[in-house]
Amino acid sequence: MTDGVIEGVAGPEERPDRHADRPLPDGRTDTYRHPPLVRVSHWVNVTAVVILIMSGLNILLAHPHLDWGRDTNWGNHWVDIPPIPNWLLIPDHRNLAEARHWHFFFAWVFVINGLIYLAYGFISRRFNGRLWPSREDLAGFWPSVKEHARFHFPKDEEARNYNVIQKLTYVFMILVVLPMMLITGLSMSPGFNAVGGFLLDIMGGRQSARTLHFISGALIVGFIVVHVGLVFWTGFVNNMRAMITGWFVLEPSTPHGEDRKGDPS
Ligand code: HEM
Repeated sequence: MTDGVIEGVAGPEERPDRHADRPLPDGRTDTYRHPPLVRVSHWVNVTAVVILIMSGLNILLAHPHLDWGRDTNWGNHWVDIPPIPNWLLIPDHRNLAEARHWHFFFAWVFVINGLIYLAYGFISRRFNGRLWPSREDLAGFWPSVKEHARFHFPKDEEARNYNVIQKLTYVFMILVVLPMMLITGLSMSPGFNAVGGFLLDIMGGRQSARTLHFISGALIVGFIVVHVGLVFWTGFVNNMRAMITGWFVLEPSTPHGEDRKGDPS
């Protein structure tokens, strides 16, 4: 050992970066996209959100109407909920008490998991670096909308980072819709009402809170349909591999447009 260096052991500067790009045959590149915490919290979140929606539908069926204000408006509801098949419910039959147990347990899973993901996102600066759109991103918003409308998605170097629409959608879900689901749900909880009854007043009453809670759930369902649709469209195996192992394959760069899936030319 000389000068604090153990012979045969690489110093920090010589240690290979485990997350550096890995060249693949045919000019493709394997790039590291999602750290373990993001992957685990994503799949915990998917489980919690799906169970929350299915048990939430069961709870909704105990009073399949939506209203605005403090009280339900018998005979003139804002929305009447149509029948929902049992296979979409948790448990798979009408049972308010059991559905509430599932809903409240997974609400805690959702909250704790979400807080861990948020804390990590801010501390590691993942939000700044990967999710928050830059001015440059925003300037490219309309061209990106046109590309999306034509179902053109880059698969080469351009796919290394999320595009501006992806960034805006993820940020909107993480910072607006998911917290809205949580706050509207919390405002209806009798336990929380004892200390935070003001939340119900802000919402305009229990029926408004219930309707807003339903709207946030519907926005989440809409997001899941488009999100999963795009996961399939832009390369199911590659996207799923990224969210399971962390690694994502970039195709070799080609003249603009040639690598785009859905491009008829
Ligand atoms: C079965 C349902 C779902 C599947 C198959 C799925 C799949 C995926 C995949 C493959 C990615 C990585 C995309 C990429 O690397 O370009 C991803 C990212 C993401 N998903 Fe999902 N997802 C699902 C449900 C959800 C739900 C319910 C939410 C939230 C309500 C959600 C929120 C997100 C977010 C915010 C990201 C970006 C995370 C980050 O980079 O920090 N996903 N999803």
